Order: sequence, then C-alpha cells, then structure tokens
Amino acid sequence: MRICPIGLVGWGTVGDGVVSILRQDAAVLRERVGLDLRLKRIVTRTPGRARSGDALGAVVSDRIEDLTADAEITTVIHLANGPAAKPLMVALLTAGKRVVTGNKALIAEHGDELFALAQKHGGSLAFEAAVAGGIPVIAALRDGLVANRINAIHAILNGTCNFILTMMETKGWDYAVALVEAQRLGYAELDPTLDVDGTDTAHKLAILTRIAFACRVPLTSIRTEGIQHLNADDIASARTMGCRIKLIATAAQTPAGLDLHVAPTLVPLDHPLAAVMRNFNGIYINGSNSGPQLFTGQGAGAAPTASAILADVVDTLIGRAEQTAAQFAFVHPAEPPALAGEADEVTGSWARFHVHDRPGVLAGITERLSRHGISVLSIHQGLPTSAGAATVEISTHPGRGGAFLLAVAEIDRAGFTTRPTTCLRRL
Ligand code: HSE
Repeated sequence: MRICPIGLVGWGTVGDGVVSILRQDAAVLRERVGLDLRLKRIVTRTPGRARSGDALGAVVSDRIEDLTADAEITTVIHLANGPAAKPLMVALLTAGKRVVTGNKALIAEHGDELFALAQKHGGSLAFEAAVAGGIPVIAALRDGLVANRINAIHAILNGTCNFILTMMETKGWDYAVALVEAQRLGYAELDPTLDVDGTDTAHKLAILTRIAFACRVPLTSIRTEGIQHLNADDIASARTMGCRIKLIATAAQTPAGLDLHVAPTLVPLDHPLAAVMRNFNGIYINGSNSGPQLFTGQGAGAAPTASAILADVVDTLIGRAEQTAAQFAFVHPAEPPALAGEADEVTGSWARFHVHDRPGVLAGITERLSRHGISVLSIHQGLPTSAGAATVEISTHPGRGGAFLLAVAEIDRAGFTTRPTTCLRRL
C-alpha cells in the first residue's frame, strides 16, 4: 500500500464532494489501486466557514505557501475559481506540484502557458473534471478511441443549460425560475452568465477539440450563442417539429475545414442526444472506426465532478496524467487548423416566419428557399389570428447553413414577414 499525502486548494461545492468521497470511499481506492489517499492540507479563502463535514484531519489555512512548501505533498487538487484561480495554479506548478483541476476556463484560455510551466518544473496538469463532470471522456479519447480519426463531436456540455431547457419543456417553468433552481442545486458557475451565454460550453469544446482533433483552436474561433433568448414559443415549436432544443457544441470536419460552434439546436427526438435530460451531459462522438458512440452522465454537481477529480488524482499518482499531457498538450502544432465559417456549416435549419396571412406568402418563401438550393424537410402553418397574422415554421434537410441564412434574409427583406425571423440549427 502506498501512502499518498495530497493537498486541496479551494473548498467549495466540488471540494466538499472530494472530501466526502475520501471520507466514504477511500477504501475502494486502497483496494483497487493500492493507493491510500490522505488529505494533508487544504487551502481555502474561508478556513473558518462552517461546513457539513470535517476536514479529515487536514490542516486548513488560507496561505498557498503552506502547501507549496510541504515537500511531502506532490499531488494537489486545484478547485479555485475566479481571479485567484490562475495565480494559485501558477504557484502550484512553479513549486513542481502535479496538479489536478476542474477549472475549464483556465485550461481553455491559458492551457499552453500552464502546460509549459508544468513541463518546466517537472510537474503535470490533469483536467478530466474540466469537461463533462463525471463522464470520463478525456480518458475515452486518450485510450479507447486512440485508433480513430474523429469525424465529428456533437455534445451537451453544460448541466445548467440542459437543466433549464429540460424544466422549461417538461414542467413549463420560466427560464428564470429554472436558473435559480440550477444554482441552488450547485450546477451553475459562480457567475451563471458563463453557463447560459455558452461560454462554459465553448471552454469545454476547446479542450475536447484539442484532444480529439490534435490541434489548438483559439476560443475566439468558436462561434458561440447561448440560451438566454429562448422562450416558451420556441420550446413549443420544437415539439411541433418532433424535436427538443439543446445547447449543442459541435466540432465537425467539413470540406471547408473544422466547424466549431456552440448554439441552441433542434435535436430530433430519435437522436441519442435528445434523451440526455436535466443536469446530464452527453457527448456523441463519431470515430472513423468506432462509428458513433454516446457518452452520458452527470455533467455538473459535487459528487460527479469529484469522481472525475479523484480519477485524475489516481492517474497522476500512477504517471498516466503525464502521458496525457505529453500526448495532447506538449506536442501539437501551434498553428490552428483550417476553420469553416458559418456560411460553410453543413446543417439542417429551422425558421419561424411571422407572416401576413395572404395569398402568395407561402409561395414567396418556398420560392426563395428553392432558389438557394434548400430542400424542405417539414413545414407547418399555425391558424391565423383575427388580425391576419400567422406563423410558418420550416425545417430543412442538411445543407449549407449559410445558404439558408441568405434565403431567410431575402424573405425578410421582401416584406413577407412582420418581424425578423428566428432561426435555429437542426441536428
Ligand atoms: N456550470 C457547469 C455546468 C458545471 O453547469 O455544466 C460543470 O462544469
């Protein structure tokens, strides 16, 4: 049995999850991998705060130096957020510690600098918990799918957004009520804007892309939309079209290059991702040899995220985390790949046109779609109001999304519509 003193920086929701797994399940790790994890030091901004459980005998302080100076601790769990997260990470890596983090913003925005620091000081940096909470998708890409070129990833990567959309659809909750509940359940970021505006999903997509496609992509190259503007009408329209709306992260090879975007998307009910509900995440990966696979599980919350953190602690202690870093972080070319613009996306599309109820409107819409080479998959017109207004909803077969947007802009300009048309992609 190997006794392993470890440190923890940041004792919030996920930190609580780590402490509680160590309290309840340390024996599992002893039996399975022969590692006896001992939490020796915790660094937190609030050492005196009352908590639901004890610190398992760890010394608790608010000074990172107490931890960096402790030579017995080689492996540290970093769960800090906010402005202090980066300086704390830098202090740990500079001290040569092997660090496990769940902070996706740090890895997505400063990965190169941090991996270089780890390499320079003989440490390592593991980040399984940064993407999709408890789902071991980094390990799956590293190990199980290593013999594949990845053609496409479509993923639900934010538990908060998926919870909100699920509650709006299944319980008729307002967006704001669902968001407050997601915060209460510990799914949301400190600043929940990062969840709902798609930023958190873009961070995770950047990390997945680096591993799946062996390339670095600047965050700014991921076209990102959130779910803030969705309303009950959109949810109802999705149902009419045999779909539900999910915030989908896409990284897909197209003839024009790698297409990277995050957007609310109609997912047909028979697509595997449609069954991913509440705070669950789902990552649908199409490998050249494996074919399509769906990885699903809880993408947010204390225990699932802590489960991934402790898997990384084990990886770090047995040397596998260094292998991941060497494979994916240190060696790839710095140049970003060719990227497909929005006009070159290959996607199904959907639009809701608010129109005047008069002869020729439907013909005018379909004529412009046809002129842009767009093939209609389904069409639905609601009964007109007494004021002579109606809605027409159209979804299309997959094609060039850019052509669809051009056609919609022409339809709006031609005066058939009474307000700008709402569009969504469709998987
Ligand atoms: N705020 C994130 C989410 C937590 O809702 O998915 C996990 O990264």
